[in-house]
Amino acid sequence: MVDPRAALRPSAAVREERLWQRHLEMAKLGATSKGGVNRQALSVEDAAARRLLTGWAAARGFAVSTDAIGNLFVRYDGSEPSAEPVLTGSHMDSQPTGGRFDGIYGVLAGFEVLEAFADAGLRPRRPLELVAWMNEEGSRFQPGAMGSAVYAGSLALDRALAAKDRAGVSVADALSQTLAAAPASRRPGFGGPIAAYVEAHIEQGPRLEAAGRTIGVVTGIQGQRRYTVDVVGEEAHAGTTPRAARKDALSAAVAIVSALEQLMADPADTVRFTVGRFEVQPGSPNTVPGRVHFTIDFRHPDTAVLAERGDRIADVAARHAKGCTVTVTEISRVAPTVFAPQVIDLVRDCATQLGYQHMDMPSGAGHDAMHVARIAPSGMIFVPCWRGISHNEAENATPADLAAGARVLAEALASLANA
Ligand code: GLV
Ligand code: MN
Ligand code: MN
Repeated sequence: MVDPRAALRPSAAVREERLWQRHLEMAKLGATSKGGVNRQALSVEDAAARRLLTGWAAARGFAVSTDAIGNLFVRYDGSEPSAEPVLTGSHMDSQPTGGRFDGIYGVLAGFEVLEAFADAGLRPRRPLELVAWMNEEGSRFQPGAMGSAVYAGSLALDRALAAKDRAGVSVADALSQTLAAAPASRRPGFGGPIAAYVEAHIEQGPRLEAAGRTIGVVTGIQGQRRYTVDVVGEEAHAGTTPRAARKDALSAAVAIVSALEQLMADPADTVRFTVGRFEVQPGSPNTVPGRVHFTIDFRHPDTAVLAERGDRIADVAARHAKGCTVTVTEISRVAPTVFAPQVIDLVRDCATQLGYQHMDMPSGAGHDAMHVARIAPSGMIFVPCWRGISHNEAENATPADLAAGARVLAEALASLANA
């Protein structure tokens, strides 16, 4: 016999097939030939994704608005409109060779929950707001997690708007083009107040799949520091210039990266150190390189390690300059995040009640929740991703796991919104 109370639970109204189809629709926007997605922040593909989400929201009668940094909000009214809302969401932008689930899953799972509430005729006390945070990935404009950082007060709006991509286009200009192509009513201010935030995301690592668990109860996010390094030498003729007379920016940059690999050496393999962008100028086979620009992404769960090793980067770089000028600029620093115990417990309880195998785990990847957690009790829900592959066009997840995460999200949001 069907339990009549089950029909009143929003998780019972989550529809796996609808959620999956929405992923397939979104994946067409910026689709790559290898089955992934290239939908960078404030691109025409991002504008298309905004229009698609806005259209779905309009069809359900949900109000849509955007703030001054381009975060996109979809609102499901509560019975007390002035109560502090409960937020959920993630991001719609992707890596250049991104997958179909990183970020967009948290947006679509949140939208599925809003629809589930509407379908079940449920009206929580607090409003529910779905947020698509602007520029989480940081591949076009740095720093990443830009929209949530501005929202949470960790990054000044002016600084964010002034950031430029490699073609010299500013966030301010790209944002006004995007909002012209994907209009939404403007909302004032940032930062709430909000009652709580829960973000769903694919794990982006192999642990859930290996352990045969469906739900990751996320306890926190490791900290990170990001830098740019500019090495300036002197262009010279490759055929005539003796080694002693060269200021070879590439030779210096290679020595710097090699020394930094030593600095970051860690037998425990906890340190994460990545040089993901490395640009050589003028890029001519027969000119000694005059300029190199590269990025550093350094992560660790321990604040002391982040401080100690991160603070030595500039000195190590200077010692391997080989006669060039080296400028190290720290562009973002986010301390390790510890999620609110009550949200962690709630996510775990919801997973248990729904009968899903789960495990507590920290996040190696960064998420918008790391900023929102500074202004509201926050937590995250992970679902497995195939072989742990992410930031890769082969990224994959199953419709059943995506729906499971959305059901846990639905119950967690219901509890928070009725509190
Ligand atoms: C987000 O994509 C991150 O870099 O962790
Ligand atoms: Mn992400
Ligand atoms: Mn990502």
